[in-house]
Amino acid sequence: MDSSAVSWVAALFAMISALALQVEGIDTVSAIYGETITVPCNDNKKLPEGVVFVKWKYEQKDGTSQSLLTKSIVKDRADFDASPEYVGRLDIGKQNELLVSNATLQDQRRFNCMVATTSDVIEHLVNVKVYKKPSKPEITESPKHLDVGKLQMIGKCTSKDGNPQGNTTWYRNGALLESDGKTVEITDTAMQAPVTGLITTTSVLRYAAQKTDVRANFTCNVQHFLDKDQESSPVTFPIYYPSEKVKIEVLAPSPIREGDSVTLKCSGDGSPPPASFTFFLKDKTENVENSNNYTIESVSRDMTGDYSCSLLNDEKLNDTATVTVHYLDVLLTPAGSVTKEVGQSVNVTLSKASSADLVVTWKKDNVKIDAPTLQKLAYRDAGNYECEVTAAAVKGLKKTSSFQLIVEGKPHIKNLIKKLGQDGKTKTLSCIVEGSPKPTVQWNVNASTVNESPYVNGQFTHTITMIPQGNDTVYCTVSNKLGQDQYTVNVSTYSRETNDQTKLIVGVVVGLVVAALVAGLIYWIYMKKSKQGSWKTGEKDRGSHEENKKLEENNHKSEA
Ligand SMILES: *[C@@H]1O[C@H](CO)[C@@H](O)[C@H](O)[C@H]1NC(C)=O
Ligand SMILES: *[C@@H]1O[C@H](CO)[C@@H](O)[C@H](O)[C@H]1NC(C)=O
Ligand SMILES: *[C@@H]1O[C@H](CO)[C@@H](O)[C@H](O)[C@H]1NC(C)=O
Ligand SMILES: *[C@@H]1O[C@H](CO)[C@@H](O)[C@H](O)[C@H]1NC(C)=O
Ligand SMILES: *[C@@H]1O[C@H](CO)[C@@H](O)[C@H](O)[C@H]1NC(C)=O
Ligand SMILES: *[C@@H]1O[C@H](CO)[C@@H](O)[C@H](O)[C@H]1NC(C)=O
Ligand SMILES: *[C@@H]1O[C@H](CO)[C@@H](O)[C@H](O)[C@H]1NC(C)=O
Ligand SMILES: *[C@@H]1O[C@H](CO)[C@@H](O)[C@H](O)[C@H]1NC(C)=O
Ligand SMILES: *[C@@H]1O[C@H](CO)[C@@H](O)[C@H](O)[C@H]1NC(C)=O
Repeated sequence: MDSSAVSWVAALFAMISALALQVEGIDTVSAIYGETITVPCNDNKKLPEGVVFVKWKYEQKDGTSQSLLTKSIVKDRADFDASPEYVGRLDIGKQNELLVSNATLQDQRRFNCMVATTSDVIEHLVNVKVYKKPSKPEITESPKHLDVGKLQMIGKCTSKDGNPQGNTTWYRNGALLESDGKTVEITDTAMQAPVTGLITTTSVLRYAAQKTDVRANFTCNVQHFLDKDQESSPVTFPIYYPSEKVKIEVLAPSPIREGDSVTLKCSGDGSPPPASFTFFLKDKTENVENSNNYTIESVSRDMTGDYSCSLLNDEKLNDTATVTVHYLDVLLTPAGSVTKEVGQSVNVTLSKASSADLVVTWKKDNVKIDAPTLQKLAYRDAGNYECEVTAAAVKGLKKTSSFQLIVEGKPHIKNLIKKLGQDGKTKTLSCIVEGSPKPTVQWNVNASTVNESPYVNGQFTHTITMIPQGNDTVYCTVSNKLGQDQYTVNVSTYSRETNDQTKLIVGVVVGLVVAALVAGLIYWIYMKKSKQGSWKTGEKDRGSHEENKKLEENNHKSEA
């Protein structure tokens, strides 16, 4: 026993002594079970003069006295009487107080200190009380879990060997629990050990748990006046309750497209979480045990629809999700590479089917165009046609298709232009060619230089320079797999010359001049006859002037 405990016990004794009833000079002393009882004689006051001996006795149940020891004043040591209960446990102190070691509950009786003097015998009666603090309470027989709403034993709180018995109280999260006949029921029992007489208390708590008890701790507490309250270790429980709601989740890319894998995941809000489920698919019911999900590996458009799940074999509690499988089919005709001849037509058809609204855009050679209508094909219609079909509302759902249009045509020389070179000797001949595939150009003369413009829209200009050797008849011959064309010009060392075309133009111009003269004559006659009129002569003048100008230009060209 350490010093603080000693002083504590001393303080306790002082308290108990102060509280002890003093009935006709009877003192009461308190002791701790198992420790030594000190029973004072004569209130520890000095003994009177002429003491001969001091004798300690106790009162038996039948009222008779039993002697314990006698100490003669002339002797150092006391004489002990053979009382089996007290063999080896007794001693007497300096103040003649009786020391009883290993206090038991049987020691709770009345002791009598008899002081005999030469003239008198004085008796001091002292009642002894023995107290024992019960053991720290322990909770046992707790269940593994609690079911919500069921009045169920939380545990048995046991506190052993106290005197007097301890009081047990129960707490939930530190708040006192009291029997209410509904959700809390506390039953206390006490049992006295037959030999020691110590009392073991047992308190059983029955409690109807709620969901909020998930992390709640339960403790029991024993109060005993010898010490501050003693608290058990806490117990906590998993709280079990059934699901009230089931939830289905669709784990899939968004948007879902054909070929995607779709996982349906089901969960319940019960505790412990439900582990097995039933999935209601479009055409079948799947039970999955110890798993919360069902996967459809590769979805197709016909799998669009409602999907449900429930707890295993418990269809009443279910949840539904809608799965939409998006698709986009596009068929563009023609496809690949199409070859047509100039003037022919191509029927372009785009058939499409989708789960969503579509937007179609067209491109020709990467330039945005309107939807093509390819009637009466020209060379410029050739190219790469691409359409992009997009479902605006469904991210990532789009398809592109394309075809290559090749427009072919027989070679044709549109013109052959002669020019006199800067040096006045060489001639430049430009053959303007149209046709596809690109025609090859051949001349019947040796060219000193050859130039060619880019081949665009089926057309290009092939230009040579040459030095005429007298009067040459020059042919420009163009050919491709579809045929050939030729154009002839006469080239001479003399600058004055004409070709067929120039003659034609001259003919036309002459014709026009004649027509103008005839018109002027008619006008003149008309004016003469009517002697009135307001003809717009200025316009006519200009027209003939322009014609003259054209004529001059043409002459210049052909006589280059
Ligand atoms: C006191 O009690 C203890 C334990 O019960 C025992 O070992 C011891 O011998 C007892 N002493 C006496 C004097 O009876
Ligand atoms: C029991 O719960 C209460 C309230 O949550 C907390 O304050 C207390 O520390 C807990 N006691 C133990 C022993 O865990
Ligand atoms: C134990 O409970 C009883 C009855 O409720 C009460 O009289 C007594 O004072 C309590 N004792 C302690 C130590 O709390
Ligand atoms: C699906 O269930 C299996 C088996 O229980 C599990 O291993 C897997 O993690 C679950 N998948 C998902 C996405 O929850
Ligand atoms: C889902 O629950 C509702 C209401 O309980 C019930 O009418 C329905 O049939 C259930 N669905 C399935 C697929 O079991
Ligand atoms: C194009 O369509 C029209 C009418 O639908 C049809 O008469 C014609 O034969 C088609 N032409 C081609 C080349 O398919
Ligand atoms: C072109 O020149 C070659 C030699 O360079 C000559 O043999 C040939 O006759 C010439 N052809 C013409 C059409 O002048
Ligand atoms: C070229 O033609 C002109 C007129 O037609 C003629 O006068 C001249 O002699 C010719 N020259 C040659 C080299 O044949
Ligand atoms: C070229 O000259 C010849 C002979 O001089 C003539 O017969 C022919 O018609 C001329 N051709 C052209 C296109 O002027």
